[in-house]
Amino acid sequence: MSFGVFAHSTRFVNKRLHLGVCGSVACCKGADLLRAWRRLGLHVSVTLTAAARNFVRKPLFEALGAIPVYEDMFDADQDIFAHLEPGAQAQVMVVAPTSADALSRLARGAASDMLSAQVLAFDGPLVLAPAMNPRMWANPATQANVNILRDRGAIFVGPDSGDVACGEQGEGRLAPLEEVFLAALRAVSPQDMADLHVLVTMGPTREPWDGLRFWSNPSSGRMGAALAVSAWLRGARVTSICGPGSASFLPRCVAVREVCRAEEMFEAAQDVWATADAGIFVAAVADFSPVQVGKEKFKKSSAPQGLNIPFKPNPDILATLAAKRRPEQKVLGFAAESAPDMPTLLALAREKRALKNADILAANRTGGQGGFGSLTNAMAVTDAKGREEIWPERDKADVAWDLCSWLLKI
Ligand code: CTP
Repeated sequence: MSFGVFAHSTRFVNKRLHLGVCGSVACCKGADLLRAWRRLGLHVSVTLTAAARNFVRKPLFEALGAIPVYEDMFDADQDIFAHLEPGAQAQVMVVAPTSADALSRLARGAASDMLSAQVLAFDGPLVLAPAMNPRMWANPATQANVNILRDRGAIFVGPDSGDVACGEQGEGRLAPLEEVFLAALRAVSPQDMADLHVLVTMGPTREPWDGLRFWSNPSSGRMGAALAVSAWLRGARVTSICGPGSASFLPRCVAVREVCRAEEMFEAAQDVWATADAGIFVAAVADFSPVQVGKEKFKKSSAPQGLNIPFKPNPDILATLAAKRRPEQKVLGFAAESAPDMPTLLALAREKRALKNADILAANRTGGQGGFGSLTNAMAVTDAKGREEIWPERDKADVAWDLCSWLLKI
């Protein structure tokens, strides 16, 4: 089960979430969501509807750390006002999966069962992740309920199209869990990047030298994805220009343009930069590309003595876009440097920031802690106002979050 680049982060410790689980084949997925939020240190309470209890039982959710797990409104072992507790304590309510029946009850403002009453007594963000048979979803009665709830501000995640449990096909599948997971995190995040359009370049570039083979590097795109998701969680609209393989780290809330060569990344970035408020340049762009020896697979018999391939320089995307920015456009650059220690890395970051005309430059050591492909990064960060810090190895999600905070301050 993948929860993406924010599966590990310290930013959500002690946030409070209430999860409602309705009767559906997908209700075991509620347990996966609970586990993912608990891993981040959120307090999660849960309500299992009567229909959900046909599929899953209370001890499962208790064992995964939900406190408390509610069932019926008048259970003897709970406070008579239990239906008001989540509304007073939670910062976000999520119903996943949301059944057709729950949509109907929530749209009507019913308070006849525990979950409906708890949602009715809550005025914060409500995330709904429907899952049901496609004919039930398409029914005008369900669609009318969805529209009522949308108009009242409910955040819908999915449903998706595809195979559903009953063997039919169509719209009605529970959305990918990462999308539900992130929608809740967004609801408890500061919206301090709302109204910003953020460009992120990420991943490697691939420079072909024949019809089959290429020159590249081991960048995964994880750091770029963490930055893209951080900005989205904080309210931004994000467009990522993704080198090969890196788009797989991104949830659908981030707009993606997939490219291969540095030249293509440059063109796409230029295009997006026209409407962007901030540019985050994390891509490990190949500085040179080989002059292609042909469009077919090169035969080794053609070069028995070995192969010499000339390389031509690629455009520097960050430096070029930073040089022709509007005054309000902010630029965050990265650097991978082979520095012996962090103070030396900081000095190199300072130089590179000035050289590239970036507002902020974040550097990591090649061969040091974290970096290419890993889940963590240790960084030296410097900005145009003279602020400088050395950060120990941390989850990329936390590094990304703090870099977004720097972007807002510069
Ligand atoms: N960068 C870019 N376009 C390039 C090369 C780099 O946009 N053609 C960006 C990277 O995304 C990163 C920053 O510039 O944000 C620094 O990249 P780095 O590889 O560390 O430095 P280079 O400029 O390539 O210089 P060198 O490799 O000589 O240190």
